[in-house]
Amino acid sequence: MNKPTFLFAGIFASFAFAWWGMAMVPHRQMAELQPQVDEDTNEAYPVNMGGAHNAGRDIYIANGCQVCHSQEIRDAHNGSDLKRGWGKRRTVPLDYFYDQNVVLSQVRIGPDLANIGARKDEKDAAKYTAAWHYQHLYYPRYTSPESNMPAYRYLFDKRRVTGERAVDALNVEVEDGWQIVPSAQAKTLVSYLLALDRSHELKKSAAPAPAAPAAAAPATK
Ligand code: HEC
Repeated sequence: MNKPTFLFAGIFASFAFAWWGMAMVPHRQMAELQPQVDEDTNEAYPVNMGGAHNAGRDIYIANGCQVCHSQEIRDAHNGSDLKRGWGKRRTVPLDYFYDQNVVLSQVRIGPDLANIGARKDEKDAAKYTAAWHYQHLYYPRYTSPESNMPAYRYLFDKRRVTGERAVDALNVEVEDGWQIVPSAQAKTLVSYLLALDRSHELKKSAAPAPAAPAAAAPATK
């Protein structure tokens, strides 16, 4: 083989190898993926939550939440996500089946949010309710005094109180006669957060393959 042909063959082989590993192998692993259905209850997982959920994710992305928050739970061998209570199991491709934009993200300046809709605080039942999320988004240090999460005040409207205070008015300091209420964007974003729950039990086929068993000891004759 002369030099240019050899060079060309080398370049071709490296691109072909990368294409195989990065496009073909994941395609073969995931092309057949289907939502799972429980034969006894007929319950499907995951469920397509539709337009409002996607709109919520768009607002999440537009506000850069994924810059500081991941939405993927690693298994026990790869980190302490399960120990920290961020989820009951690791996340798998099926969990993102209906997501048009998958916001896995890698940076974790704040906690993982893959299951934020299912999160509870045993000591404080009011934590992680819609009202808590509004207050947290409006000014994170109200709920988490040391937080370095930015305040998303522009997702809220300051309105004059006419008659009764709005039911979803925030419990924050504001001049007399005024109230802070979540905008439509804040409501869509918080509904999205409250629907994030990837803790559904998986059937065997969707669960990650268990680690290969240790080689059996050779049989002694
Ligand atoms: C600059 C980094 C940063 C950005 C951007 C950011 N956060 Fe956070 N977030 C944090 C940190 C740090 C915490 C932990 C302290 C706290 O509770 O405020 C946190 C906590 C949270 C929590 C509570 C999680 C828990 O388990 O207690 C939620 C919910 C949340 N963020 C949602 C959002 C949303 C929604 C956005 C986008 C609108 C966003 N964050 C943007 C840094 C960030």
